[in-house]
Amino acid sequence: MNKAARPRVVLGVSGGIAAYKACELLRRLTESGHEVRVVPTEAALHFVGAATWSALSGQPVATGVWDDVHEVPHVRIGQGADLVVVAPATTDLLAKAAHGLADDLLTNTLLTARCPVVFAPAMHTEMWEHPATRENVATLRRRGALVIEPAVGRLTGVDTGKGRLPDPGEIYEVCRRVLARGVREPDLTGRHVVISAGGTREPLDPVRFLGNRSSGKQGYALARSAAARGARVTLVAANAALPDPAGVDLVRVGSTAELREAVLKAAATADAVVMAAAVADFRPVAYAPGKIKKRDGQEPDPVALVRNPDILADVSQHRARPGQVVVGFAAETEDVLDNGRAKLRRKGCDLLVVNEVGERKTFGADESEAVVLGADGSETPVPFGPKEALADTVWDLVVARFPGAPHQ
Ligand code: CTP
Repeated sequence: MNKAARPRVVLGVSGGIAAYKACELLRRLTESGHEVRVVPTEAALHFVGAATWSALSGQPVATGVWDDVHEVPHVRIGQGADLVVVAPATTDLLAKAAHGLADDLLTNTLLTARCPVVFAPAMHTEMWEHPATRENVATLRRRGALVIEPAVGRLTGVDTGKGRLPDPGEIYEVCRRVLARGVREPDLTGRHVVISAGGTREPLDPVRFLGNRSSGKQGYALARSAAARGARVTLVAANAALPDPAGVDLVRVGSTAELREAVLKAAATADAVVMAAAVADFRPVAYAPGKIKKRDGQEPDPVALVRNPDILADVSQHRARPGQVVVGFAAETEDVLDNGRAKLRRKGCDLLVVNEVGERKTFGADESEAVVLGADGSETPVPFGPKEALADTVWDLVVARFPGAPHQ
């Protein structure tokens, strides 16, 4: 990448044990061509020293406003940034940012930055849930910052709960998307979206199932994109072997019945539901509690199947909230648009993403091509490209359909 065109990122690091994970985030950013200035707090240096930040970033490192005063760094660093990401963001740092305090270089930088700002909080569950932190997070979000929900898991001591810093690779993915969009305000802030992903498996016996080849990549791309645009995301993932996206509430399921239960539960509070999962249309009538055995000299019994309920049709036809936007996916091999239109009407959804199944478009690919059909008659072609681009187009179309939005 041309040096002059390198996006300038400020990586703020505040004083929590997860500071060591920010080294990995820094590496990802620098290796992908970003110019990164690390601004730790004084407390952060108890966990990772200035020499590490300086060596990894190739830039000077200071915590206070009294170093290199002739360069006015407390103003310049923020002004010149294309993105500020604070990882980990402690409860103290969030409080200072929400109240506009400016007692060190990082808090000054946050006040002078006019670019998108991402906070990746990490703290104990009690601190995250405390009303003071809740209010500070709400204030920051209202002002246009992206505050990533912490992950659930092992915390510093023996305890577990919500408060872990998400995987640095996934925080990097959020930063990449926010930088690519280049807009200050995340347009899904305050929205709850539900996405199903992967492929359901219908058990035949304890060791066998009927399944499909869906990788879950499109659903995960939708979840990553929605989280980077500020949404509260529930990702209902059926048998997907992919890294957990940052800031996403992940519900793992196996069968269609489990997927249906999880989607309907989450849909009760959702502004949008996107059914990207490949749902098995049929399941075995009977489940054998013991492994089905071969019988000498006998052909196996045919597997009797029964139809599964149509979750997309259910969600579309019994909207849990007025104005809820519902999106389906369809794979078609012929008469793509006609079949897609008929399916859109049959299911009753607002948008249907129609993929033509062909040579280049196989399950598990990172790229796809589609047309998004709208119940209002609209047709949005999405050229062959990354699933991430299709995800952003879907969210653009969803946002335009939220009640009160100016329709495109
Ligand atoms: N879907 C669902 N519940 C089912 C089956 C499918 O919610 N039991 C959803 C999928 O998540 C997807 C859309 O419906 O959003 C796909 O519809 P479907 O009728 O299964 O279309 P195709 O798989 O393309 O198959 P067909 O043309 O055979 O109907």
